[in-house]
Amino acid sequence: MVSVKTVAVLGGTGNLGPSIVHELLSAGFTVTGLTRFSSTNSTPAYPDSVTVHKVDFGSFDSLKDAFSGQDAVVSVVGSPGVSAQRLAVDAAIAAGVKRFIPSEFGVNTRKVRDRPMGAILRGKVEVVDYLIEREREIEWTGVSTGLFFDWGLEKHGLSTINLDDKTSSIVDSGNEKFQVSTLAQVGRAVVGVLKHLEETRNRYLVTSSFQVSQNEIIQAVEELTGEKYPVVKRERAEDLQRAGEEKLAVGDYRAFIDFLRAYNNADGAGNAVGEEESSNGLVGLEEEDLRECVRGWLVRAGVIS
Ligand SMILES: NC(=O)c1ccc[n+]([C@@H]2O[C@H](COP(=O)([O-])OP(=O)(O)OC[C@H]3O[C@@H](n4cnc5c(N)ncnc54)[C@H](OP(=O)(O)O)[C@@H]3O)[C@@H](O)[C@H]2O)c1
Repeated sequence: MVSVKTVAVLGGTGNLGPSIVHELLSAGFTVTGLTRFSSTNSTPAYPDSVTVHKVDFGSFDSLKDAFSGQDAVVSVVGSPGVSAQRLAVDAAIAAGVKRFIPSEFGVNTRKVRDRPMGAILRGKVEVVDYLIEREREIEWTGVSTGLFFDWGLEKHGLSTINLDDKTSSIVDSGNEKFQVSTLAQVGRAVVGVLKHLEETRNRYLVTSSFQVSQNEIIQAVEELTGEKYPVVKRERAEDLQRAGEEKLAVGDYRAFIDFLRAYNNADGAGNAVGEEESSNGLVGLEEEDLRECVRGWLVRAGVIS
């Protein structure tokens, strides 16, 4: 394949989608947004320059029609829609789509598939397995990005910083580094895939903004605010893992957060992305600056100016 020009985005209306759409448009791709007939999004989440089509995610024909003329499909569907991607793969093949990027964008599901956390991510794992099965008919690229750094800070201080009472919480020593990406970096990763088609064909990539520890986040916040954020809560990763397993045993998928925190923060977990494993270079991504990302969050939160 020489190049991708037209890109259909599935579910580009949620937490991550707008950043991917923004980066695709900035890079010059022609973007079509596909939104469900049943969508409850009340605001027009796609920019004006995006053609928006309504689709029925449960209908092969509806998806095939929507994919007609598209070189690539980028799926950004949220968890409830992950399993529905299998039909989207079938429809993309029938419509002659060249590259499919499934909704991964988190932990490396290839790595955790056989762990308890993998049970919760089974839908994602199965879609990548299915793409591998059909890779002679459609090219694919999966992208693990780690935690969304800016989004996670805004939502819950990445379970580390509490801006309201100026305190912090850590798991184990707080020194373990883990993989994170800003939403914009995830968007650039998708663009990088579509601009490096040969190198990324039928591959599962691991990208990031940087690797960071909880203590480094606390240190950045303290330096930027000039105030102390004392650690008032310490949790043990093994307790989080056990709590996750207990929840999973009764079908409570909130276990995912316990597993994720243990996966990222346990002393010796070793899940930060090393240079050899990183695909940043492959897709032309540069490392971002931790301090600048934390500064951006603190400014948006009105803590510093
Ligand atoms: N690494 C991290 O820290 C992190 C954090 C959050 C999410 N993620 C991952 O990023 C990806 C996108 O997550 P998100 O939070 O942006 O998703 P989201 O906001 O929950 O949903 C994205 C879009 O998916 C569509 N959708 C919702 N339910 C659907 C269903 N049942 N079937 C089909 N489509 C449905 C909706 O689009 P329409 O209404 O327009 O149809 C929705 O706006 C997922 O893979 C998620 O696991 C990672």
